[in-house]
Amino acid sequence: MARKKIIKLILNEYAGPEELSDEDQKLLIEAMHAGSHAYSPYSDFPVGAALRLDTGEIIRGNNRENASFPVSICAEHTAVACAGANYPESVITTIAICARKGKDFTDMPVSPCGKCRQVLSEEEDRAGRKIRVILYGKSRIYVIDGIENLLPLRFSSSALRT
Ligand code: THU
Repeated sequence: MARKKIIKLILNEYAGPEELSDEDQKLLIEAMHAGSHAYSPYSDFPVGAALRLDTGEIIRGNNRENASFPVSICAEHTAVACAGANYPESVITTIAICARKGKDFTDMPVSPCGKCRQVLSEEEDRAGRKIRVILYGKSRIYVIDGIENLLPLRFSSSALRT
């Protein structure tokens, strides 16, 4: 007989940025700035991401769309690639993400797409350290400790070794 297993996802919910630490608020503001330079003429859905490295350095990313739609790259992926290329010795501690629908930020937090979750999961494995994820929405903010809370049963390099 099948045994039902329940996987729990834990997230911390906040009513607004004023409830976050100064460090997290700063990162969120960086993500907002990053989003204002997104290139998203096809979706009109600019996304901003800002990640903090263990050195304290902050790296911005935004979505870069393309007339050939699948060529587009998400904000989180841009930021992770930029960090890996420019700060190869550093590891990511926190990433903040926000999106605008038209001119205004989304009401609810926008969660990273499946591909970006996988990208962040690889960074965690590479560094041997969990990444905190701050997801901003005007009416609430989620803070998630570790990608396992976004991507349960994730695929990782351990599968390649078995
Ligand atoms: N997008 C991101 O940048 N990050 C996500 O996690 C979700 C989606 C972008 C991709 C595309 O440019 C636009 O949002 C609409 O899907």
